[in-house]
Amino acid sequence: MTNREPPRIEVQRTFPLLDQSLYNLHPEDATFYKELTGIEDDEALKQHILDVQAEAYKVAPYAFIYLFLFIRRRLSVLPAYQQVVRIGRERKNPIFLDVGCGFGNDIREVILDGFPAARAIGTDLRQELWDLGHELFKSTPETFPAHFVGGDAFNPEILAVAPPASKETVGVPTPNLSNLTSLNPLRGCVSVIHTTSFFHLFKEDKQLHLARALAGLLSAEPGSIILGAHTGAQEKGVMNQVYRGVEADMFAHSAESWTAMWDGEVFEKGTVKVDAQLKEVSAGEGGDERYPLLYWSVTRL
Ligand SMILES: C[S@@+](CC[C@H](N)C(=O)[O-])C[C@H]1O[C@@H](n2cnc3c(N)ncnc32)[C@H](O)[C@@H]1O
Repeated sequence: MTNREPPRIEVQRTFPLLDQSLYNLHPEDATFYKELTGIEDDEALKQHILDVQAEAYKVAPYAFIYLFLFIRRRLSVLPAYQQVVRIGRERKNPIFLDVGCGFGNDIREVILDGFPAARAIGTDLRQELWDLGHELFKSTPETFPAHFVGGDAFNPEILAVAPPASKETVGVPTPNLSNLTSLNPLRGCVSVIHTTSFFHLFKEDKQLHLARALAGLLSAEPGSIILGAHTGAQEKGVMNQVYRGVEADMFAHSAESWTAMWDGEVFEKGTVKVDAQLKEVSAGEGGDERYPLLYWSVTRL
């Protein structure tokens, strides 16, 4: 790789040129984008999204940008979503953290459903994507006051592994979220951690490391939750996938191995409730290819 090329994701092997014919905004997602951008005209909205996609692909040639997965709502389709909305509305000083947040579209979903924007944080390796999120949704840091922490989730200065918080820590004051440059001060304070299409970017040992690190951030208050969706499999192992010219090798857990990892390895057995469901979903537009996705949540008891 020359130093003029943007950094690439390990699991992704091919990086095709953008193809506008893959654009397909589902009606329910169009409503979301029209409400947030204020662009009502379908053609104008399409051009706006294509423009932001082209900018983003220059700095991050990732499959989720190429395949327009960033224009699909990901969070509100998760089975545990109403638990998240309830925490945002009912818990005192809740904190929502989106890990591998990209443009921050999932954060915007939960804020639209009542989670206080000033209590939401996105984190990603690529600050440029977060900045392009403002362009995508026509916002500024003033009109959209969610916070952002840039950096590598495997850098201990950004996110170190720490044991899960004990019940004695419930109710301790949460840190000031403005000017955060690391996630470590959030240890034991986060009410909701969302991470979709993120774990599958890493090999098995790194997935365990990440799970342990995120567990250390979670509040011990019962009902606190880590949730997301990513590539799964009937049997855990490395999966090779080729779709629309994008080829990737991903380590995928089964529902059983994912559950066993959280309930026993990451958290002491019996201190969390894990829900993991493997579903075959449509891989993209205009075809009948199916793709195994693991929808999961881990709730503190
Ligand atoms: C497949 S995208 C998913 C984005 C978003 N969650 C979604 O579902 O639309 C993965 C994101 O993880 C980020 N990422 C990759 N490696 C990372 C790392 N080591 N630390 C933090 N973020 C990382 C990428 O920049 C990208 O925005």
